[in-house]
Amino acid sequence: MTILYNSNEERQVNRVVALLTQGKPVALPTETVYGLAGLALRESALAGIFKLKNRPTFDPLIVHVLGIDDIGKLVKEITPLHRQLVNAFWPGPLTLLFEKTDLISNLCTASLPFVAIRSPSHPVFREVLRRVRQPLAAPSANRFGQISPTVAEDVIKELGPYGLEAVLDGGACVLGIESTVVKIHKKDTGFAVEIVRLGSLSLEAIAKAIPENVPIEVRESGTGVSVESVDYEAPGQLQSHYAPRTPLLLFAKLSPKDQAFVVKNSNIFRYLEVFPDPQLRAEVLRGLPSQLRQVLSETSNDVEAAAQLFRALRLLDEQNPRAIILGALPESKRGLCPAIFDRLRRALSINELPS
Ligand code: TXA
Ligand code: MG
Repeated sequence: MTILYNSNEERQVNRVVALLTQGKPVALPTETVYGLAGLALRESALAGIFKLKNRPTFDPLIVHVLGIDDIGKLVKEITPLHRQLVNAFWPGPLTLLFEKTDLISNLCTASLPFVAIRSPSHPVFREVLRRVRQPLAAPSANRFGQISPTVAEDVIKELGPYGLEAVLDGGACVLGIESTVVKIHKKDTGFAVEIVRLGSLSLEAIAKAIPENVPIEVRESGTGVSVESVDYEAPGQLQSHYAPRTPLLLFAKLSPKDQAFVVKNSNIFRYLEVFPDPQLRAEVLRGLPSQLRQVLSETSNDVEAAAQLFRALRLLDEQNPRAIILGALPESKRGLCPAIFDRLRRALSINELPS
């Protein structure tokens, strides 16, 4: 049985800290999603995280620290561009890759020479870091390939059945999508920034914080931004990820026959709109009970939509419908739209109704 600890109770926080110090994995809130934390510098603790998540060892973990002063021994070099980004966005949803030292195990980085590090802003995670006094590795607290949890009860549903001992409750995560992962390349011509994973920190924000002549490249396709062939290793960027158990299908991409079936049998499906979707509303949603549908932001606000995305997918999934029908993907390059687009695209199934 997983125990839910209250982050406002001193003794309960200490209990969680004690479990971590013993090398056990514990779920903690961050501003992005809940993380499954464990001592980053103890291999047996990392192994416990991989096991509980059923995560393949080719997918590296992010190391969490209080700030830049805590990474001196973990990384070989902090370039001026790293510093600029740290000054602009730490603590917060920016994960940076650094060349690792031997203190960081190969298990942590999936044998890559780079370690991913971030400084979370969530006060509860930070309080735990202060008490543990060492870096914590923390992937999202879901089973591998599943949706990241954004509330404590979803963590328990995800990992409770597999033996998670403790969750420290910090309420709902305000951002709702994982951190943006950034790699800095030093080239003959100067620095280049590569977005390894789109996330809660927007490209516009990153572009504003760095010199204008530093190019930004996005590793993943699907964002419409071209990808340059820098030295490639793409862990954790599997096509099918963030998948609900129920098939997720784009309405516009269904065959006319399937669309007609959905229109006729609308109540056996569930519906997800990122922003109000005129086609779906006109053809299917009119008159449908509100619990059959989720709209992430009625006012087309990307930040609000990102915050609601994973929770909404879970709520629809739990109703066990035949399929979840998705309205249009957010095509815009504005703010968090590319990150929402990325997560939904990878959650999509092939566009056919299941029989
Ligand atoms: O917001 C977040 O980042 C959350 C919270 C808990 O901090 N954590 C998170 O971790 O999303 P996780 O394990 O679910 O995703 C980590 C991803 C990997 O799948 C990979 O894409 C990238 O971060 N990553 C980590 N280490 C890397 C490395 N050494 N090289 C390249 N990519 C790396
Ligand atoms: Mg994850």
